[in-house]
Amino acid sequence: MSGLELEPGTSGPAGTKPAPPCTLVIFGARGDLTKRLVMPALYNLVGSRLLDPATRIIGIDHGHETDEGWARFLTEAMQSFTTDKTAEFHADTIDQASWGFITQRLSFQQGNFEDPATFEALAGTIGGNAVFYLAVAARFFGTVVEGLGRAGLLRQDDGFRRVIIEKPFGSDLSSARELNARILKVAGESQFFRIDHFLGKEAVQSVMALRFANGLFEPTWRREFIDHVEITAAETVGVEERGAFYEPTGALRDMVPNHLFQLLGVVAMEPPTSFDAEAVRTEKAKLIEAVLPVPPSDVVRGQYGAGIVLGRDVPAYRDETRVSPTSSTETFVAMRLSIENWRWAGVPFYLRTGKRLTARRTEIAIHFRPAPYRMFRDTPVDALSSNVLRLQIDPVSGTTTEFRVKVPGPAMRLGDVRTTMRYGDFFAEKPNVGYETLLYDCMTGDATLFQRADNIEAAWAAVEPALDAAGPDGIGVEIYPAGSAGPDGADALLARLGHRWSGLAAE
Ligand code: BG6
Repeated sequence: MSGLELEPGTSGPAGTKPAPPCTLVIFGARGDLTKRLVMPALYNLVGSRLLDPATRIIGIDHGHETDEGWARFLTEAMQSFTTDKTAEFHADTIDQASWGFITQRLSFQQGNFEDPATFEALAGTIGGNAVFYLAVAARFFGTVVEGLGRAGLLRQDDGFRRVIIEKPFGSDLSSARELNARILKVAGESQFFRIDHFLGKEAVQSVMALRFANGLFEPTWRREFIDHVEITAAETVGVEERGAFYEPTGALRDMVPNHLFQLLGVVAMEPPTSFDAEAVRTEKAKLIEAVLPVPPSDVVRGQYGAGIVLGRDVPAYRDETRVSPTSSTETFVAMRLSIENWRWAGVPFYLRTGKRLTARRTEIAIHFRPAPYRMFRDTPVDALSSNVLRLQIDPVSGTTTEFRVKVPGPAMRLGDVRTTMRYGDFFAEKPNVGYETLLYDCMTGDATLFQRADNIEAAWAAVEPALDAAGPDGIGVEIYPAGSAGPDGADALLARLGHRWSGLAAE
């Protein structure tokens, strides 16, 4: 796990060497992911002087295309990000030297992912280290890995051979197990880098630093002091152009066993003995295995109706392109998880995620137990509220601590206050789409921020009862107006134990 901060005048960020020379092969070269995230991340890595000059980038896709055509397509995309402020990558100008470094190293190979000839042709052009990036639809993951294996491309005789696999990794426990079994027949676990882009977010990585590099937090980070924990990933965007993918997927599969469980992992795992990949991933595995399979009665599913989001009228989910007018796919899900281990037994973990909500907000809120009231019995203070530590990830990243102090004056009255830390106030913010660290780490062989097979399977196992029960006869979908905080059922879920969700509006 690397910090990619650049120190001027050195060949790379403090203590960080450029990645070893390697050939990056991108399957899905003309796809959205490649142009929106992978290429900008490579460009940022060049800016941080972390790519070796001997790096090569080969793109593979179905359609006919030339090297120049692909380079032009990507250059136009990069240019468009200078005006599109909604894209994950935005820069006022594209640095020609850095981008030129990339375009000089691009080549394109037309190929069908299911055709052995594609892999044979590739085998003829690759020697030494290689990373194969599967930026393709999930149904091709197994096929591409098998194609690579058959062509001998995953044999590590003259260099490393690694495969980056995007999400969704399976659509339930049995399909994830099947996919793991399929790819692990072809190459070893250490060659697979299963991506969860939430782990590429600096603020997510920083949760581990906050917990384990400070004496302040960890002693109270347990059931004796923590009352409950909320994990929220609220979005204002709708399903956009992804109806065909989203219809059979829904919010639970799209966000929970992957992204939200990664947040759960960093906030709730035991301290690993080091930042070594296996040490970290073993602690995460132990944590996720301690999560009880969620009973359907602790799950709420919602779907957005028409409404107003950020001042704009938006249609109902059922009226979106490539969505069934009678769809029962959830665009919101909330659940209560129980973790049965010594640290967390009895502490509810509430997870929620949804599209077309009031505001974008990804955060973990730790609610501490209230202080004893006895001392305040003879004062105007009628109750003590709990302290909250918010670990904010998006759209701002930082932390906020909420506590109570005395209101100046003759009587003992308490007022709510907060202290706020923003990463941007302390550290220069480097352009970062989140994939820089992930690509660099894969090239350097650091798997800390990638999901191991058992991590993924344990997460699917925890949500399996909810997946099984989703549907009109089980957990139906409650319609919520776009622009709201989600369905009423989500509030009722927390009210059962006297809790309430945090508001979503920006601070
Ligand atoms: C993706 C999901 O993995 O994560 C999307 O498929 C979701 O539906 C996105 O919008 C959220 O990521 P971020 O980084 O924008 O919070």
